[in-house]
Amino acid sequence: MGDSRYTGKDNVRLRDDGMAVVILDQSLLPGRTEYLEAETPEEMYEAIKTLRVRGAPAIGIFAAYCMAALAEREIAAFGGKGGGRKNSGHDGLFADDASGAAEFMDVMKKHGEYLKSSRPTAVNLAWAVDRTLEAAGRALKEAAETTAAAAAAEAVRREALSIHEEDIAMCRAISEHGLSLINSGDGILTHCNAGPLATSRYGTALGPIILGTERGMRFRVYADETRPLLQGARLTAYELSQAGVDVTLICDNMASAVMKNGWIQACFVGCDRVAANGDTANKIGTSGVAVLAKHYGIPFYVLGPTSTIDLACPSGDEIPIELRPPEEIKEKFFTEPVALPEVRCYNPAFDVTDHSLITAIVTENGICRPPFDESLRAAVGRRK
Ligand code: MRU
Repeated sequence: MGDSRYTGKDNVRLRDDGMAVVILDQSLLPGRTEYLEAETPEEMYEAIKTLRVRGAPAIGIFAAYCMAALAEREIAAFGGKGGGRKNSGHDGLFADDASGAAEFMDVMKKHGEYLKSSRPTAVNLAWAVDRTLEAAGRALKEAAETTAAAAAAEAVRREALSIHEEDIAMCRAISEHGLSLINSGDGILTHCNAGPLATSRYGTALGPIILGTERGMRFRVYADETRPLLQGARLTAYELSQAGVDVTLICDNMASAVMKNGWIQACFVGCDRVAANGDTANKIGTSGVAVLAKHYGIPFYVLGPTSTIDLACPSGDEIPIELRPPEEIKEKFFTEPVALPEVRCYNPAFDVTDHSLITAIVTENGICRPPFDESLRAAVGRRK
C-alpha cells in the first residue's frame, strides 16, 4: 500500500469500480496490515460494529463511501445506468418514471438507516449518511425522470468524495490550531486514538503532534492503552512511532502518576459527539483523564472537526452511549478468560466529559473556549 508513514492516506477509499469500500482493517493492527473490501450492507455494518473501521471521522467517511457503493450496486442490479428498467422484473424499480426514482431513494434511505444503526454515539456516521441522501435528493429533483436514479447515484459518489476531501483539510487546520497551544519539549497525554487512522492524514488529537514533529519540534507523548479494546496501545503508539514521535505507552490507571510527576503539560483527546453546551462524548475513560487534569492544573483540550459538533443535542445527557459485549473485558486479548463466565460486566464504549472540565475545543474553524454554547455555534456557523 505504498508509503505508510501517515497511514491515514488510503485507510478508507472507494474501490476503483465504485462498487465496494476498501479499508485498512484496524482490528488487526499493529500485528497485521490487511485491507478488506466491504461490498454488501451486512459487510459494511459489520466493519463498523467490530471496529475494523473506527474513529468518528473515519466512520463518517466510510459510511459515505458505503452509500456511494450501494447506490452503484442498486443501479447495476437493475441492468446498468440510465434509468429505464421496465423489463427487469424488479417490481418497477427504476422504471421510466418518477416513481422509480422515488423507489431508489427509499432503498437508499433503508441502507442509510441500517448503517446508522451500527454504532450510536459518533454523530459523524449519521451526519455523513444524511449528507449523501440530501445530495441524492437534490440530484433527483434536477435530473430528467429517466436518468434520475443514475444522477442521484453520481451525486452520492461526489458527496462522499467531498466529505473525505473536507476531512483532510479539517484535520490539517485542526493540527495548526492545536499546535499553537503547545511548545516543543512538552509532554502530552492522549487517550484512545484520534490520529490518521481515525480520520484522514494528520488526525485530530494527534495532528498537532505529527505536524509539529514534521517541523522539527519535539514532544513526549504518553498514550493511555485504552481498555478494553486497546486503541492507545495498538493504534496510537503505532502511529506515533511511525511518525518518529517519542511515545510512551501507559496503562489507563497510570495517568495520575505521570501527571503528578510533572511530565504532562497538556491533554489532547478526540471526540465522538460534542453537545451544544460543550459536553463531549469520547472513548470510555476520557472523563476520568479530564478530572485528573483539573486536579493537577493541566489544560485539557478536545480536538475535532465541526462535523462532530451536534448543536441539536443540548447536553451530554442526550448523547446515546454504546454498550458493548462483556467478552471484550473478560476474554479478548487474553490467552484465557480473566473472569468467570457468570461475572456481570458493564462495558460502555464512551463517556461524557462535562464541559466544565474542558479548557478548549479545537475545531478547523478555530479554538472554542467557554462559554461553549456561543463559541461552538460560531465555529459551526463558519462551516463552508
Ligand atoms: O470506539 P472507537 O475506537 O471508535 O472510539 C474512538 C474514539 O473515541 C476517538 O477518540 C474519537 O472517535 C475521535 S477520532 C478522531
